[in-house]
Amino acid sequence: MLYKINTYGCQMNVHESERIAKSLENLGYSLATEDNYDIIVFNTCCIRDTAEQKILGHIGKLKKIKRANPRLIIAIVGCMTAQNGKAQELLKKYPFIDIVLGANNLEELENAIINLQNKHKKTISVPMDEKPQIPEDIEYTRTSMPNAWVNIMYGCNNFCTYCIVPYVRGRERSRKPEAIIKECEQLVKDGYKEITLLGQNVNSYGNDFAEKSIDFAGLLEKLAQIPGDHRIRFMTSHPKDLNEKVIDIIAKYDTLCKNIHLPIQSGSNSILKAMNRHYTRENYLEIVKKIREKMPLCGITTDIMVGFPGETEGDFEDTIDIVKQAKFSGAFTYIYSPRKGTPACEMEQIPYDIKSARIQKLIKVQNQITKELSKNYEGNIYRVLVEDVKEDGNLCGRTDCGRLVTFAGDKAFVGSFKNIFITKSQSASLFGRITEE
Ligand code: 5AD
Ligand code: SF4
Repeated sequence: MLYKINTYGCQMNVHESERIAKSLENLGYSLATEDNYDIIVFNTCCIRDTAEQKILGHIGKLKKIKRANPRLIIAIVGCMTAQNGKAQELLKKYPFIDIVLGANNLEELENAIINLQNKHKKTISVPMDEKPQIPEDIEYTRTSMPNAWVNIMYGCNNFCTYCIVPYVRGRERSRKPEAIIKECEQLVKDGYKEITLLGQNVNSYGNDFAEKSIDFAGLLEKLAQIPGDHRIRFMTSHPKDLNEKVIDIIAKYDTLCKNIHLPIQSGSNSILKAMNRHYTRENYLEIVKKIREKMPLCGITTDIMVGFPGETEGDFEDTIDIVKQAKFSGAFTYIYSPRKGTPACEMEQIPYDIKSARIQKLIKVQNQITKELSKNYEGNIYRVLVEDVKEDGNLCGRTDCGRLVTFAGDKAFVGSFKNIFITKSQSASLFGRITEE
């Protein structure tokens, strides 16, 4: 019996697909290498309409495949399904779907498959329990050695007015520190070299503990002290919650990567207010200044959105201005996409051609900055974790500050740290050679 998982969306989803893989393997399935699978799971995303339309297109194509093979099991899980009324809508449009589970209901997958096989019973389970219990005994089939993801919290309390996440993933729940530390210690023992801590807003880790016994800085400090030759990253940080204590801890420990993903979303104070972000452009620039004072080489990346309802040309120019000032080492740029059920969806929308022109301008400005910053790497040596072999046979990996580097070397080096002398840069990419220095 063979399985296939189609994963859409963020790192959280990529990691949750490792959990889904384990559930399927528990039932005796193994990974399909061709299109001869007996079960296909779509782990979905709904952050933007483009993501949803792409997934719906892929599901639609299964109609023919299911007709040719009625025994094929089709499961749709994750963020998209938990939107209000979506599960019913999916079943109506695609009656050949067998299982629908929300992002908070993944533990039901094994039983859902057993019920389908034994009793021909479909399972549709997308309850939005506000604070579902955090499972601590989750097992994963990890597929990204030498990198591993570790969830430190689930859900989000922020309700940014454009964002669907709090509606489909529920309120913030932090995992117990002991469980996180144990998991990370085991990963290091198992040979993983880079651990990425995951949470929608990692800086509010521990806020939901009644005794307020630990915060994100405290957790980071404990994890930084796990012995071994490895390093730790984390995402995502919220500018309203990233405090000096966290910056000091990152600066203090070599095991903590000098790399912070700090979504700004907009450079306009009135838009930030309308987004419910709880910081101003001045606050944001102040944090960037503090990070750079303590860690001059820290890579700061961001998410930026254009075309939020009410965004004027002046607001957009404020975004361009802050991008020029902050000098991000990389930025994910998005066109605002109205999400049903969120406050911004009810506001007056901006025409698509304006949004489109703005994002093109933004990308151009950021690309120029990335290119200029890349030049600074040339002629210097960086410690890189060798992560993979590229199609052309070269190796690739990332610096501590998150930059991707390509270089020649033995594929046996994957999973080890190497010093790389940077010889050339090309937009965001760096090229170099291994050096013994
Ligand atoms: N439209 C466009 N981009 C969005 N994001 C979140 N919601 C939306 C939306 N409705 C972006 C934000 C966030 C990133 C993960 O996705 O920039 O930081
Ligand atoms: Fe969405 Fe805002 Fe929560 Fe991020 S912090 S998941 S953008 S609501």
